[in-house]
Amino acid sequence: MNQARNAFLHPFAKPTKDNFIKLVRGKGALVWDDKGNELVDGMASLWYCAVGHGRKEIADAVAKQIETLEAYSTFDPFTSDPVEQLATRLVSLCPMSNARVFFCGSGSEAVDSAMKLARLAHVQAGQPERTVIISRMRGYHGTNYGGTSAQGLPLNKVGYGPLVADVEQVASDDLEALSVIMTQRGKQSGCDSRRASAGSGRCLSSIG
Ligand SMILES: Cc1ncc(COP(=O)(O)O)c(C=O)c1O
Repeated sequence: MNQARNAFLHPFAKPTKDNFIKLVRGKGALVWDDKGNELVDGMASLWYCAVGHGRKEIADAVAKQIETLEAYSTFDPFTSDPVEQLATRLVSLCPMSNARVFFCGSGSEAVDSAMKLARLAHVQAGQPERTVIISRMRGYHGTNYGGTSAQGLPLNKVGYGPLVADVEQVASDDLEALSVIMTQRGKQSGCDSRRASAGSGRCLSSIG
């Protein structure tokens, strides 16, 4: 018979680890564990909870929407007011005049989508040879195959077989190396990985 073990496999943890800090409650910038310890959430969880924990107005809005229509795909031909309204709001905050919003479920998915969209844009523009993606060492970029390929944390890339081709990496603080690779491969370059990011919160990638 299988030995009892924790069913939940934690991300970014040793698979054998079984002692974690169990959080049970949050309010504003504070969280509490199951032993009653009060902790200051200086990281806003993994940077995605900057508005603070336990916000009643958010809980009320979520509950109201769930009672109305909890979720639906927006694949063609469907759309819905909440998704349209959020996209319009984000565009109004965006520094680009012609921005559009593509929603993803994580930073990793956003990075992979940006890499694919950058390559696709060049195919559409008649330059399919522009497939090279330049990323900087020490950058994280997420856990899907695109982000794993583009990331500059060597240990995060080990053991997953062949990664995405045509990803070039330069030292994060070496402009000269960037300029050399741009000279050598600039005509094949599809995108670089400088971006405004909100960590695990979600991120917005630049396509250049
Ligand atoms: C710079 C950067 N890109 C991508 C990601 C991946 O985001 P997620 O964990 O939401 O997949 C992170 C997460 O910390 C990040 O810091």
